[in-house]
Order: sequence, then C-alpha cells, then structure tokens
Amino acid sequence: MKDEEIVAKALEMVGKAYAPYSHFQVGAAVLAESGRVYGGANVENASYGAAVCAERNAIFAAVNAGERKLSAIAVCGGKDGKVTDFCPPCGICRQVMREFCDPRTFRVIIAKSAREFKTLTLESLLPESFGPEALA
Ligand code: THU
Repeated sequence: MKDEEIVAKALEMVGKAYAPYSHFQVGAAVLAESGRVYGGANVENASYGAAVCAERNAIFAAVNAGERKLSAIAVCGGKDGKVTDFCPPCGICRQVMREFCDPRTFRVIIAKSAREFKTLTLESLLPESFGPEALA
C-alpha cells in the first residue's frame, strides 16, 4: 500500500464528516499491519464535548475489525471540507495512536492534497510517551 493510496482514502473520508458546529471536516485513513485500510471522519455532537476526531474514528474502526498493530495514518481536513492546509492530529489522537503501534516507525501522513503530504513518525509528534508496556 503506497502512502498516496492512504492519503486518497483520507481525502475521500473528508466528505463523510458530520461537522455542523465547527464546519471543519476531517478525514483519516489507517493502514494496519494486515495491509487493510480503515477510514474515519470527525463526528460532532450538539453536546460539543462529545465530538470524536476523524483519526480516532479510523483507529477504532480498525480495532473493532480485529486489528491490533497499525503502521500508518493519513489525515487531512479543512473548513467546509476544503483542504488547503495541513491538519496535524490533536494530542488526544496522538495518544490513541500510541496504543496500537511502535512510535519509532508509525507514520503520520499529513496531507494538503493527493500529491502534497508530509510524513512524520509518531515519536516525533509525541516524544517521551506513555504506552501500554508501562502497565505490562
Ligand atoms: N478534528 C479532527 O477530527 N481531527 C483533528 O486532528 C483536529 C480536529 C475535528 C474535531 C472537531 O470536530 C473539528 O475538527 C474542529 O475541531
């Protein structure tokens, strides 16, 4: 699976966002070690704090399908669904990614378009992180 294909899935997912309050629509796509890709979009709520980000919805879709090891995630979004700038994942989503990957190799792909994207490791976005091995 090429990074371009994961980005394409994330861009497609932007259109699935339910964001009537912020109007900021985000799409994400997770690549699992199985080779399968899972999409997610942000889902907001009239009780604002109940909103869930695109990244977490994509990760939870993967986990609910039985995946436990994730390799990469692509993220993109923008006001009214127009992707004009990079949309880096929020802190809560970075921590949720941490649960299901090796942060040294897990790739976070932030995309502006199908061709324009940056790839970062989770470790660079969430240094000195707390993970499941601490509780083993
Ligand atoms: N949002 C995401 O889905 N992912 C991010 O990385 C940043 C923020 C959503 C949450 C909320 O629905 C809207 O964007 C505005 O914060």
